[in-house]
Amino acid sequence: MSRQERVDQGSREPLKSRAEYPYHWDADDFVSRRELLRLAVLTSGALFAATVAIAVRGAFGNSSSGSRTLIANASDVPAGSVKYFDYPKKGDQAMLINVPGLGFVAYSQKCTHLSCAVRYERDKDRLYCPCHNGVYSVTTGDPTAGPPQRRLPQILLERDGDRIFARKEQA
Ligand code: FES
Repeated sequence: MSRQERVDQGSREPLKSRAEYPYHWDADDFVSRRELLRLAVLTSGALFAATVAIAVRGAFGNSSSGSRTLIANASDVPAGSVKYFDYPKKGDQAMLINVPGLGFVAYSQKCTHLSCAVRYERDKDRLYCPCHNGVYSVTTGDPTAGPPQRRLPQILLERDGDRIFARKEQA
């Protein structure tokens, strides 16, 4: 005998509470668990689907952006100097560096740690982020010291006579 049936004994009229809550006490617990389980399964399924979608996008998504844009005349950027410019969009800070003995390279200025602005330090032959002392190689953009774990996005260049164009940014 359920608890509700025990409560009902001795009464000929149906309890008001029974009409409002048609489940027996035991069944009420069962329904709550089932609903909770259903919610947990649906939530897990949704999270799994989102994870798969993000992984697929990361694996096959477009990792480059930008279009051919004139950024400098080579004669205006002598060896050992840098020119800062916006690429691929206005406000996306980037730097063109004429590395002595190597030539022109270009990177995004956005630190891969927490997005502070990276700058070129000629005297130390490095790219430096002052926020947390992050250091990158000027020849490859790879992190060499500090917290950054990923290389700086590189901007591919194209030379046409004295003119230097940015072609695309490659993450
Ligand atoms: S933001 Fe550049 S090292 Fe932290």
